[in-house]
Amino acid sequence: MIITETERLILRTWTLEDVPYGVALWGNPEVIKHIGLATPMSREAVLESIKKGIDHQIKKGYQHWAVTLKSSGDIIGACGFNAFHQVREQESSIELVFHFLPDAWGNGYATEAAEACLNYAHEHIKIDRIIAGVEGGNIRSIKILDKLGFHYMGLIYFEDSKKFEPMYEFRLTPQRL
Ligand SMILES: CC(C)(COP(=O)(O)OP(=O)(O)OC[C@H]1O[C@@H](n2cnc3c(N)ncnc32)[C@H](O)[C@@H]1OP(=O)(O)O)[C@@H](O)C(=O)NCCC(=O)NCCS
Repeated sequence: MIITETERLILRTWTLEDVPYGVALWGNPEVIKHIGLATPMSREAVLESIKKGIDHQIKKGYQHWAVTLKSSGDIIGACGFNAFHQVREQESSIELVFHFLPDAWGNGYATEAAEACLNYAHEHIKIDRIIAGVEGGNIRSIKILDKLGFHYMGLIYFEDSKKFEPMYEFRLTPQRL
């Protein structure tokens, strides 16, 4: 199911046929360095994650969607909202995530996809705030969040990494669109 599209990208739900793309993404040590995973994901773990994402899409209406290139149809990353955990103290918020294959970095794809996700949330998800964590001083992430209009909130404890990390927030206001 197509969720939204931009000039260069289509964001759609994951299917079980996409598992090899998920393994290429979350099995890559460069990709997982700053996303709260201790080790690259195995095929089984990716399959489980995709199944959970599909379930979450049905129940809540969002997940970390697959990002495909319009020009080739290939999946180059995932962008959307975290379906797996909620950050302590922020239970009324959803968390923006963006994970892309290293070959796709530096083309503005993450910014383009994330902006489309914010617009989608504004229109379709009943929430007034989106949060985003930044692990290990991930400068690329910080630049994207700045460009999108997120504001720094302070340090917040992450259950998955068991560390305090910087947290940013974005308020969805009726004036946005
Ligand atoms: C973070 C990530 C999504 C960025 O993807 P991307 O497609 O390269 O992002 P964009 O091109 O939209 O923007 C990245 C910004 O960082 C800048 N950047 C790129 N490489 C950089 C570097 N080595 N040092 C500093 N800034 C850099 C880009 O120039 C751009 O900023 P600008 O538009 O002001 O020039 C990608 O690196 C990734 O998937 N990393 C692994 C997963 C991850 O850590 N996700 C974040 C946590 S959810």
